[in-house]
Amino acid sequence: MGFATNAIHVGQEPDPATGAIVAPIYQTSTYVNEELGKNKGYDYARTNHPNRKALERTMAKLEGGLSAYVFTSGMAGIDAVFRLLRPGDHVVLSEAVYGGVFRLSTQLLVHFGLEFSFVDTSMTEAVRMAMRPNTKMLYIETPTNPTMNVTDIAAISKIAGERNITLAVDNTFLSPYLQRPIELGAHIVVHSMTKYLKDLFHSALGGKRASANGLLPGLTRNQDAGSSHAAAQREWDYSSTTPRRASEGAKGVLPRIALSSTP
Ligand SMILES: Cc1ncc(COP(=O)(O)O)c(C=O)c1O
Repeated sequence: MGFATNAIHVGQEPDPATGAIVAPIYQTSTYVNEELGKNKGYDYARTNHPNRKALERTMAKLEGGLSAYVFTSGMAGIDAVFRLLRPGDHVVLSEAVYGGVFRLSTQLLVHFGLEFSFVDTSMTEAVRMAMRPNTKMLYIETPTNPTMNVTDIAAISKIAGERNITLAVDNTFLSPYLQRPIELGAHIVVHSMTKYLKDLFHSALGGKRASANGLLPGLTRNQDAGSSHAAAQREWDYSSTTPRRASEGAKGVLPRIALSSTP
């Protein structure tokens, strides 16, 4: 199926309970256990609910990921990604990352023992030089907001592969319609979904290679255990506008990338 068809239909199947074409909003916090430990796949809405699951299936399909995790905001999702790390771990990030990521890392997570180095990730050699024995994650935003710096995802993924560390890519500005980081070797993709994917505040992450590296159980735990999760009302709607938004947005973004790449 093509991108637009996937955006409309995957995760948006008729409601299994009633056959409703447009899934109802499940306005409940708790789901019944028919007997001890037996339910229909849901027990408590913070852990998961049908509207979130539907949106996560759409996002995983669009990014070519194995699974996706939706949070109340991009920053909540990005926080959950960094919390896969342990005190003493080091991260190399794009120096022009979105300001919220800079604040999260330098004003908050640094106090929990994580170390961060900001480098110009458009220069692959600069990334290589910034690596330390305790580097556990490469976090790149490409193109960056708002400076439109471009990083070669495939080249950075080679460095990640050589050291068996995690590569996370912020794909907000091109969306999966124009750029598919997982196909280029990323383990995790993050989004601020308010830009090209949906109207409401969300973030999604997906990753096929994340599965091989054992990252998915940690993301599931972080979504349930601590991070801000979205309620059914906020997760209910279609991603059907994504192709239109992305192609219209590209008309503005792509010439700026071309300009910023011109010496
Ligand atoms: C590239 C990028 N990443 C992450 C974020 C953070 O997302 P949110 O505002 O949904 O928390 C933004 C927000 O503008 C962004 O532009």
